[in-house]
Amino acid sequence: MKLVRLLAKHRSLGSQAASRALAGGRVTLNDAVVTEANREVTRFDHVRLDGEVLQTGCRALYLMLHKPSGIVSATHDPAHRTVIDLIDDPDRETLHLAGRLDRSTTGLMLLTNDGAWSKRITEKAFGITKTYLVQTRDPMDPAIVRDFARGFYFATENITTQPAELTLLDSHHARLTLSEGRYHQIKRMFHRVQNRVTALHREAIGPIQLPHDLPPGHWRPLTPAERDSILRRVFNEVFDEVFDEV
Ligand code: URA
Repeated sequence: MKLVRLLAKHRSLGSQAASRALAGGRVTLNDAVVTEANREVTRFDHVRLDGEVLQTGCRALYLMLHKPSGIVSATHDPAHRTVIDLIDDPDRETLHLAGRLDRSTTGLMLLTNDGAWSKRITEKAFGITKTYLVQTRDPMDPAIVRDFARGFYFATENITTQPAELTLLDSHHARLTLSEGRYHQIKRMFHRVQNRVTALHREAIGPIQLPHDLPPGHWRPLTPAERDSILRRVFNEVFDEVFDEV
């Protein structure tokens, strides 16, 4: 929301009085005077008018969780424990999930209360990859690597999956990198090559790796570098594309 709108709404101040307050240097945003009416503010910003707090600004949270098997990746569930139940932060109710995993899947999940940040992870246009370790019931035929790279047609959604990078580690284990996240996507892909996923673990989301010292069921805040790596990644990829075209 624009700062002038937030001020105008305050006790029905109106937009003219709000603009005058800004021009007169009576408004602070995160403790610095701002005069710019069109400045964007989020609910994480602290705003004062004549010293009076109009908005306290809530804590922005960016967390990683090592999801164990059997936990539902949802914020509420009537029957099962959810990933939110594993987070012992007083503001956990403000969190949402930046992408889901099936109940049986383990590994890296990101949680935040910053919708603009999570959008960069969940929206396909930003191209943030997700890397998984897959175990299968039957041995994998090396020929399927090409099938995953070509994509599979899913009639339910009428789409062909984006090229996926499958690296065989041994007869029953592979590393798979996807640039999208469709419903049960990996299980459905292996079904298409007459195989079955028996274990699935997410190792990484874009540049953020699940650390080896974070046990299942545990979480920690992202470091500022991890948090910003998502934004940098998006910026660099857009920049590289523009640069390639020149
Ligand atoms: N694909 C699946 O089939 N399950 C997951 O949990 C994630 C990706």
